[in-house]
Amino acid sequence: MDLRVRTVEASEIDAWTRCMGVGFLYSVPDGYGEYFLGDVDLHRTWAAFDGEQVVGTLRSFATPFTVPGPTEVGVAALTNVTVAPTHRRRGLLTEMITSELRASAEREEAVGILIASEYPIYGHFGYGAAIEAAAYSVDLAPTRFVSPRSGSVELVDLVTLRREAPGLYERFRARQPGSIGRDARWWDRALYQVEVPGAKRPEGYQALYRSSAGALEGYVRYRATQSSDHMRPTGEVTVDELVATTPGAYERLWRYCCEIDLVATLRAGDRTVDEPLGWLLEDARTLRQTGRYDFVWVRVLDVAGALAARCYAVDGHLVIEVSDDLGFAQGRYALDGGPSGATCTRTDETADLSMSVDAVGSLYAGGVSAHILRDIGRIDEHRAGAVDRAAVMFQTSTAPWCSTWF
Ligand SMILES: CC(C)(COP(=O)(O)OP(=O)(O)OC[C@H]1O[C@@H](n2cnc3c(N)ncnc32)[C@H](O)[C@@H]1OP(=O)(O)O)[C@@H](O)C(=O)NCCC(=O)NCCS
Repeated sequence: MDLRVRTVEASEIDAWTRCMGVGFLYSVPDGYGEYFLGDVDLHRTWAAFDGEQVVGTLRSFATPFTVPGPTEVGVAALTNVTVAPTHRRRGLLTEMITSELRASAEREEAVGILIASEYPIYGHFGYGAAIEAAAYSVDLAPTRFVSPRSGSVELVDLVTLRREAPGLYERFRARQPGSIGRDARWWDRALYQVEVPGAKRPEGYQALYRSSAGALEGYVRYRATQSSDHMRPTGEVTVDELVATTPGAYERLWRYCCEIDLVATLRAGDRTVDEPLGWLLEDARTLRQTGRYDFVWVRVLDVAGALAARCYAVDGHLVIEVSDDLGFAQGRYALDGGPSGATCTRTDETADLSMSVDAVGSLYAGGVSAHILRDIGRIDEHRAGAVDRAAVMFQTSTAPWCSTWF
């Protein structure tokens, strides 16, 4: 076998997308490669070849990633990772991902992120589970809102949403740690403004929220099914996305969805684990968290760059020894951080804490407490009180959340 890993040429994208389809168990329609080429940066698009045949795929794209502050850091988002079933467990992912991580470090990207198809894969490469997501259901029959807000909800077509949603999302993204950017192609595809080979446009609805002063402050995209049992509604409304830039928009859009007639249940997935919705309901028990799972994983490549790029809940000084089997992040770092910013440099000071790079990734966005990582043996404390200090510094007032699949 003649196995090699390298970045691809445009002429190889058809074979690359077909390999990806095999890995993800779906068939790639004719013409998809040509559309897909517009999404990829070939310098960031890797393949494993067996002779001339593509047997592995992996690529990254550059995106802003909101971190506590809120502020943002440019990251490499890893995606489309597959190895053909005929070539698995021979180190091809290892070779593709280490090649990409090296290239990412050369591009001076301090942080990499991904969504893992299976939990055990990416710890091998220094990624730590960092941001969770949750699914919810609401039993609509008894649901009432405590204090209904004013403002209006207007059903709009997809063309109107395509015009208004990106600006609203950007305002939301700038304030929500864990969220990433969405480019024009993303919006065109998500809102069916472009023909993508194989993509089907589902039945659905979309609405904008305006405050009573007329300011556009949120939108929702949802679908519904209608059914009944003994002449009573059993259908469901599924909220695909609800973006609110003010508390008023948040209340009104959820209330709108919960008050749709002829449905019994509302479902929403990939939401924040800190969803405030229950607090708006007269009976919060009508809301259930039906799932909670890891969503975004973080890989820190440049500890000093990454830790200096976010803010911290309180002022503090910490010396952290980081181990990294792949070498990128290895070293001892002095962090001086607070609510208005941070510096982080390599140091010879005695370490307060030591941890491996995946634990730094888990801590980074504020999605897990340093106490938990200490208790499960992923952080070692060398100076009394250092874990308490880290827990307070890294904590955020609400959980990080990424509402975008990538
Ligand atoms: C996940 C996938 C890309 C792994 O590719 P691969 O070439 O077999 O991976 P490697 O041989 O380089 O394995 C590297 C290490 O990760 C481990 N590993 C890889 N995939 C794993 C999995 N699904 N579960 C548990 N461990 C896994 C390997 O055992 C190996 O560990 P080791 O270094 O201790 O031996 C491949 O199985 C695949 O394409 N799966 C289906 C598509 C998918 O899930 N892609 C990921 C999208 S996020």
